[in-house]
Amino acid sequence: MPRPTVFAGCLWFLAAGPATATGADDAVYTGTVKPFLAAHCVKCHGPEKQLGDVRLDDLTADAGKHAERWAAVRDQVRDGLMPPAKEPKPDQAKARQVVAWASAAIGTRPARLPNQGNLIPHELLFGTPAKVGGASPARVWRLAPPAYQSFVRGVFRERLDGIVSPFALLGERGFRDFADLYSLDEASTELLLRNAALIVDAQTGTEVKNGKPTGRNGSVREFVELMAPDVEPARAKLEAAVQAQFRLAVARSATADEVERYVALYQKGAKATGDRTGAAKTMLQAVLLRADAMYRYEVGTGPAEAGGRRMLSPSEIEQAVSLTLGNKRVATFATTLNAASAKGPAAVREAVANHVRASLTDPKADTERVMGFFREYFEYHRAPEVFKDKPKEFVHAAAQLVADTDRLVAGIVAADKDVFRELLTTPKTFVNYTVKDDKKTNRKNVPVQAVPPPPFRKEKGEVFKPGVEPVYGFTEWPENQPVDAPKDTRIGVLMQPSWLVAWSTNFETDPVRRGRWVRERLLGGTVPDLPIGVVAQVPDEPHRTFRDRLTVTRAAQCWKCHQKMDELGLPFEQFDHYGRFRTTEAVRDTEATAKNVDKKGKPLGPIDKQVPLVTTGVIADSGAPSLEGPVKDPREMIRKIANSDRARQVFVRHAFRYFLGRNESLADAKTLQDADAAYVKSGGSFKALVESLLTSDSFLYRVAAAAPGGAK
Ligand code: HEC
Ligand code: HEC
Repeated sequence: MPRPTVFAGCLWFLAAGPATATGADDAVYTGTVKPFLAAHCVKCHGPEKQLGDVRLDDLTADAGKHAERWAAVRDQVRDGLMPPAKEPKPDQAKARQVVAWASAAIGTRPARLPNQGNLIPHELLFGTPAKVGGASPARVWRLAPPAYQSFVRGVFRERLDGIVSPFALLGERGFRDFADLYSLDEASTELLLRNAALIVDAQTGTEVKNGKPTGRNGSVREFVELMAPDVEPARAKLEAAVQAQFRLAVARSATADEVERYVALYQKGAKATGDRTGAAKTMLQAVLLRADAMYRYEVGTGPAEAGGRRMLSPSEIEQAVSLTLGNKRVATFATTLNAASAKGPAAVREAVANHVRASLTDPKADTERVMGFFREYFEYHRAPEVFKDKPKEFVHAAAQLVADTDRLVAGIVAADKDVFRELLTTPKTFVNYTVKDDKKTNRKNVPVQAVPPPPFRKEKGEVFKPGVEPVYGFTEWPENQPVDAPKDTRIGVLMQPSWLVAWSTNFETDPVRRGRWVRERLLGGTVPDLPIGVVAQVPDEPHRTFRDRLTVTRAAQCWKCHQKMDELGLPFEQFDHYGRFRTTEAVRDTEATAKNVDKKGKPLGPIDKQVPLVTTGVIADSGAPSLEGPVKDPREMIRKIANSDRARQVFVRHAFRYFLGRNESLADAKTLQDADAAYVKSGGSFKALVESLLTSDSFLYRVAAAAPGGAK
């Protein structure tokens, strides 16, 4: 039996790298940069010695691959930190050239990993108004797992066991559905072939009724008709089957050429093997395995415009928009787009804007991925991974904390006003909240406690009253929600228990990672990864506060990284690891514990005491002068940041990454600036921000990927 030709002719898109013209000149690299490193750096960062764990002799001009190291080199040379002061001072003109080259190289070849997004300096993107729009590299992007599952449901509407998603997502934190990160490896190809066979078996499933084979639940009539082993099917029936599979798999009809190709595939198989049903199944599988069935095909087939870029075709736009907003590929506005396309790019943009605006306000439209952005940005949804079992004194399991924050975020997004600032500073919260229809009184959407209150109980002298949720600090369950959190305790998503739990460890708070979050996602900064071999532990000394124990990182070899994180995370010490507001911290009372023995001197267990809590922090090296300085508590820190242009623009950068599926490059400066302007002008409408991104040149245009064989 012939195997279906998988994605024939398409694989080269996956192999080819982005072909944006590079601002980083190869001649400068060979003439200046490489000799500069060889003369001033390699003796300490080369094959023999790697001081500071840094090696530089193996760096290549491919800055996309070594973005992090090139960024470190650039920063060290720019700030005059390397070579060290006791070494001969390098020629300053050459040093400037090295800095410029590295900036340009990183800028035009964006780092691939989502967590490397901030490597392009913020000032280069927002510093000066950009006039020319960018374009994305032509790409074939595999469906994300939820979209693949919805593809399978689309081609076979009944339950189907045994389908394994061939494309897993990275397990790391942050945005993970990046176009560049996934290539077709052997394992995923095998899975795709296996899934296609499973699906076609189900689609062609027959059972014998009254001596005649008929279709089973969910099978497709046109396919079942090809399943009689000794009847040569009429050509019209083969064509009808190809058309039916096209509509199911790619939401469009096949062209005459395409029909011809698949029918020929059948004929060749049937002739070679004599197995007609096998050949028919192969033909049907081949349609399912088309690149445009499982991949987002974004090549750009419009007329060439300035710089060689081309607009996506109407059907490419249709699929890009539907798979960006939701998980289903839907064919809904091709007619409008086709008409607009005849009038030119401005009309297409207008049509996309109208469609996006309508989808974002239509409760029936699939816009699942829009809310997904907020989860992946804040990552409060990871709370249940940290706390699998809830501490017994609480009403909530971590999952309910997440549900409360989801509801809070959804409300802010629906109100669509000043969204970013509201997310960070709203005084409101939901508390163990859900709504139910009350059958007795016939009232709809009656607020009730999501997790029923526990019975009254007393433990170790503490009293737990029914209906009181200690996590949020309420003494009565508030019926009218969202409700203001108790005054001067918590504001915004970052002080929601879900977020605080998600950024804790099982027993302690996690100021380092919380501070890293603020550094990267609010200030747009970077922190080098924790080097392997560093013992990243605070001393196990329970008589000291966590803040005090974290002073281990003040040692110079630690502080060079930790100064970027710790002071931004320490204000959140205002809350314990389960997100409870506190004004004191419990530490071990060594004296009392030592005295806590029975008559025979056997220890009876540790005794804690409460000590005053310090909640101060410092914003430093943020790139925004207005932000710099000490803060007295987490609320002051977050309010200050939430009101800054810098943090808002960094938020726009993150939205870009999520909705475009890649890191921003220098060429995207206009798209980012336009999106920020649309957001500001609309009074902070997230819908306006998404609309601006999806109508940007970066979204609608592609530049050709390098031709086969031409890729580096
Ligand atoms: C005389 C030896 C010496 C020379 C020459 C030297 N370095 Fe270093 N470098 C060090 C030492 C020691 C460290 C680790 C301690 C530190 O960070 O100060 C280091 C650390 C670094 C780091 C890591 C910094 C960090 O914060 O993690 C980078 C990047 C770096 N050097 C780049 C360079 C570059 C680029 C040059 C040439 C322009 C250079 N170095 C020349 C000794 C040297
Ligand atoms: C090159 C940068 C770098 C250096 C140097 C460094 N760290 Fe870290 N450290 C990090 C980063 C990044 C994280 C956060 C890791 C994460 O996000 O998972 C971290 C996390 C930690 C944590 C928190 C771990 C946890 O599980 O909560 C501790 C404690 C820590 N580092 C201590 C130290 C100490 C002590 C030193 C010096 C001996 C040191 N680090 C040197 C980058 C660094």
